[in-house]
Amino acid sequence: MRGGEVIELISDLGGGKTTFVRGLARGLGSSDPVRSPSFTLNNRYKAGKLILNHFDFYRLKEPGIMRDELAEVLADPESVTVVEWGEMVRDVLPDKRLTIKIRSLSETGRELIFEYPPELEYLIPGKT
Ligand SMILES: Nc1ncnc2c1ncn2[C@@H]1O[C@H](COP(=O)(O)OP(=O)(O)OP(=O)(O)O)[C@@H](O)[C@H]1O
Ligand SMILES: [Mg+2]
Repeated sequence: MRGGEVIELISDLGGGKTTFVRGLARGLGSSDPVRSPSFTLNNRYKAGKLILNHFDFYRLKEPGIMRDELAEVLADPESVTVVEWGEMVRDVLPDKRLTIKIRSLSETGRELIFEYPPELEYLIPGKT
């Protein structure tokens, strides 16, 4: 992560999105606890010089002020943004984002499908 990246996580309910964010935060060197932001909608984790912003719009009926909050974070080059249940705010998300689709294969098995534009290839293990 260099800062400014946006990741959209897509899965069924309980598919492992928040768990993925926990691993991402650890990987970025953060020791902040990663919890589901379902009620707060937005959590922030400090990761060195980066801030990991974790949004979950599951319970949101109408984006309202959260759209502005998200747009503000997206404009911050030192923030990495991860979004769960982002359908409602997809028009605010940049096209230049990493989409990760998580599919449950078994109780402990997951398939992760990465979709990204060429500019984000550096995020993908084994690509650089
Ligand atoms: N790769 C995995 N293997 C086994 N269990 C997993 C895996 N990923 C997540 N889980 C378990 O599945 C449950 C749901 O995970 P998690 O909360 O990360 O899903 P979520 O997609 O964020 O759910 P929600 O849709 O409610 O936001 C948790 O109990 C978690 O421990
Ligand atoms: Mg979750």
